Amino acid sequence: MNTHTGRVAVITGAAKGIGRTLAVSFAQRGADLALLDLDDCAQTQAEVEALGVKAIRVACNVAAEADWKKAHDAVEQAFGRADILVNNAGIYPFALLEELSVETYNRVLSVNLVGPFLGARTFVPLMEKAGWGRIVNISSDSIGTNLPGLSHYMASKMGVIGLTRGLANELGEKGITVNAVAPAITRTPGTGAVPEEVTRAVWNQQAIRRFAEPQDIVGPILFLTSEDAGFVTGQTLVVDGGMWKL
Ligand SMILES: NC(=O)c1ccc[n+]([C@@H]2O[C@H](COP(=O)([O-])OP(=O)(O)OC[C@H]3O[C@@H](n4cnc5c(N)ncnc54)[C@H](O)[C@@H]3O)[C@@H](O)[C@H]2O)c1
Repeated sequence: MNTHTGRVAVITGAAKGIGRTLAVSFAQRGADLALLDLDDCAQTQAEVEALGVKAIRVACNVAAEADWKKAHDAVEQAFGRADILVNNAGIYPFALLEELSVETYNRVLSVNLVGPFLGARTFVPLMEKAGWGRIVNISSDSIGTNLPGLSHYMASKMGVIGLTRGLANELGEKGITVNAVAPAITRTPGTGAVPEEVTRAVWNQQAIRRFAEPQDIVGPILFLTSEDAGFVTGQTLVVDGGMWKL
């Protein structure tokens, strides 16, 4: 499948979980990659290079403006272009209101909501130059659940939906689409510590009652970043085994 051949995709949170699986799937479809993460992306890089694409890794805290400048320069130097940005890095520490500190609240907003804004501001100029771009922001279907301990996370992921729509409005005329994907609870290193009763409570609200696998989330991202999705923008695709019911 060559759906992404000739494209350069920038992925945040590419060291593990959904971001790592996404990197491999992009590589299988021919995209070169910039792998951004706080953690080392060496394993992801080795995996995608084995598939024959070019990849760079950049140490980047998505909440830090200076790190995005570093990422931009590395991508420009390595590829001279950036066609796709997936703002995937995110954190989801559980905390009930009475134990939720301002520090945690701000940290979650900085990573989950300021990060995608900085990413778009950093890479849109390169997309504009090419007259083509695809941005996908990762929201969460948890905003439709009754789970306690996630108010800060839900605020950030609702914000991602607003950011997505606002950016789509500004960038449509430039050939750049901006969409969000809202995954269900997905089997990743990050959800390893979620108690089984919580996952089961969520599954019981789904039409398909099982853990989402990273690949379940990646498929819709591949579509939204493809040529085929050129007239889809400002949307949030809920990928949750049928939990949300319109
Ligand atoms: N796994 C789920 O159940 C689920 C459900 C809905 C939404 N999501 C969202 O999907 C995305 C990926 O989740 P995951 O489960 O694969 O996560 P994960 O914890 O398994 O991996 C996240 C990656 O992001 C990196 N990261 C964290 N903070 C960062 C920062 N400040 N700067 C750069 N990199 C950073 C981590 O080092 C890690 O490699 C997140 O935005 C998450 O909120 C996940």
